[in-house]
Amino acid sequence: MPATESVISADIDIAWVRAQFPALAQTVDGHPAAFLDGPGGTQVPQRVIDAISDYLRRDNANTDGAYATSRRTNTMLASARAAMADFLNCGADEIVFGQNMTALTYAMSRAIGRELGPGDEIVVTRLDHDANVSPWLALEEKGVTVRWAEIHKEDCTLDVEDLAAKLNSKTRLVAIGYASNAVGTINPVKEIVRLAHSFGALAYVDAVHYAPHGLIDVADLDCDFLVCSTYKFYGPHMGVLYGKREHLARLRPYKVRPLTEAVPLRWEWGTLNHECIAGIAACVEYIADLGRRVHPEAATRRAAIVAAFEWIHRYEHALMNRLMAGISEIPRLKIYGITDPSCFAWRCPTLAVRVVGQTAEQTPLALATKLGERGFFTWDGNYYALNLTERLDVEKSGGFLRIGLVHYNTVEEVDGLLGALREVVGA
Ligand SMILES: Cc1ncc(COP(=O)(O)O)c(C=O)c1O
Repeated sequence: MPATESVISADIDIAWVRAQFPALAQTVDGHPAAFLDGPGGTQVPQRVIDAISDYLRRDNANTDGAYATSRRTNTMLASARAAMADFLNCGADEIVFGQNMTALTYAMSRAIGRELGPGDEIVVTRLDHDANVSPWLALEEKGVTVRWAEIHKEDCTLDVEDLAAKLNSKTRLVAIGYASNAVGTINPVKEIVRLAHSFGALAYVDAVHYAPHGLIDVADLDCDFLVCSTYKFYGPHMGVLYGKREHLARLRPYKVRPLTEAVPLRWEWGTLNHECIAGIAACVEYIADLGRRVHPEAATRRAAIVAAFEWIHRYEHALMNRLMAGISEIPRLKIYGITDPSCFAWRCPTLAVRVVGQTAEQTPLALATKLGERGFFTWDGNYYALNLTERLDVEKSGGFLRIGLVHYNTVEEVDGLLGALREVVGA
């Protein structure tokens, strides 16, 4: 995480943040609901709900028609693309909307795979969500060799030396995650992109888990592709792909003939989920508004987004430090991933924990269920980071309990969770 100069000149009242999200006011059997399941999907601000329903109420139409609602739909799509371009720091014509990250990645692996065959190699990692693994493994059917980059098991960081050793002149693509959705590790993506390029390989980055927590700058990363899912950063259930213009123009999508060859539209097949795309523009605006509150001088939406993520990072890390310190005092509750505070810049506030020597009442599912009854929404299992749970040998015994913080969580929720954890673990 490169240190940048602070642009923040004001703080945010967390009550204002929470007031944006109507879902946060819910209760479960009298307990306030604590949404600690951000890595599975975040809640949405009212403005996202309004944008989706306003679109359906007023503008609902297909694109490119010769009438008002269709023209408004075209304008809305263009503004959502511009919003995502500001979010990722790229051109609006480098933004592709799709059903979700997984579907977009399969579409891209099929297109890239058209040019690959025996003798070509792809590198994937043990740390990644399977959505950035299986679409590449599928190319083994064409004779492509897939190589695996390993992890350091003790802190669940990527073994970059091992990854480098798997690269050679036959490597065509390196698929890496920006951050692990299971244990929170942030990878040195820029360094890995540079490594991939030094062997003439493409770099494909899964930023789904990182996107709610940190600023993404595809121009700075110089990655060839980057994918994220808006439902993980306060938007609707959709996926977004950034592709370098030259790749989106040169690669051949599997598309219907009447669809334009223009970039990026040649990658968007059939009619898109317009109402959700209206919600995407609103969720980017929400993040920019956060930024304007802490940096009122922000002259552009991108500058506001930069400020928002500086504040989000500070706020989330303060919560994370409190949670990590509290958990470390609960006997037999083990945190997987980075636990050395001097390395916290390399982790997201996503914690995978397990009871050492767990009983049937202490499995990740049992803990998540008991926490859920007390209003604390966490997750259990492998969350599709299957290669990691297998590598750490926790897959057969229920995976992990995952606690995922985002910027709308509070100190009170963290303290309440720690109390509930002590109770359900039996400490
Ligand atoms: C790191 C990571 N990558 C990929 C995905 C898949 O995203 P989607 O549901 O948009 O296909 C997820 C979903 O949880 C994820 O956490």
